[in-house]
Amino acid sequence: MEIVVLPDGQAIGALGADAIANLLQRKPDAVLGLATGSSPLAIYDELAARCAAGAVTLGRARGFTLDEYVGLPADHPETYRNVIDRDFVSRVDFAPGAVRGPDGLAADIPKFCAEYEAAMAQAGGVDLQILGIGTDGHIGFNEPGSSLASRTRIKTLTRQTRVDNARFFEGDVDAVPTHCITQGLGTIMSARHVVLVATGSQKAEAVHHLVEGAVSALWPGTILQHHPHVTVLLDGAAASRLQLADYYRETYRAKPAWQGI
Ligand code: GLP
Repeated sequence: MEIVVLPDGQAIGALGADAIANLLQRKPDAVLGLATGSSPLAIYDELAARCAAGAVTLGRARGFTLDEYVGLPADHPETYRNVIDRDFVSRVDFAPGAVRGPDGLAADIPKFCAEYEAAMAQAGGVDLQILGIGTDGHIGFNEPGSSLASRTRIKTLTRQTRVDNARFFEGDVDAVPTHCITQGLGTIMSARHVVLVATGSQKAEAVHHLVEGAVSALWPGTILQHHPHVTVLLDGAAASRLQLADYYRETYRAKPAWQGI
């Protein structure tokens, strides 16, 4: 894992966007794994600005989103499909239909999940997966206790996640769906490069486990310690509980800029 501690969200956005821009230069039809949530917003904002300036194009790129609530009506503003369209897809130049996501209204959810996995494989697999992390250490919606080898499937959300996400449902935890479809930990592990973003002190404990804790289903993100190419982009607050923070800072400072992440 490469740990990069940056001064603020803007610096995180720029470095994350650099990684995607470099990938698209090498591989214009790259497959991106897209996460919703506040963590990746700085990257999306930066990519939208670069796209508007003509410096980056996603015209041949494809995308797969990580997760979706089960049962929300298609026009509900908080379906992850609508959130990712609003936050990112509609602001860049993806071709129509280039970004797919789990269908939270599928009649046969296990069948849909198998088809979603097959579609990702047929696209050649995810080249770069953007991730956030929940305060309980979940990635995607792989809650504590998730199988470390899981693939796309239905999951029950924890009370903690529903409380955390109630802010998007006018503070009403009962309005937050109880179930979701999420790519599994095994699915996420299949991506070639994972870029995980965490900011703020409320993520510090999850980040500590993610980077320095024992690999355990209790902190699902820890499976990423077994991935050969993970970059963790943090602000100082999210990095505040890392025992080796000084070492990570020193290592990144000494890295030649041309290497990127
Ligand atoms: C949700 C999403 C995750 C996201 C997490 C953190 O539960 N399913 O994909 O990473 O929340 O969200 P945020 O980035 O807003 O803190």
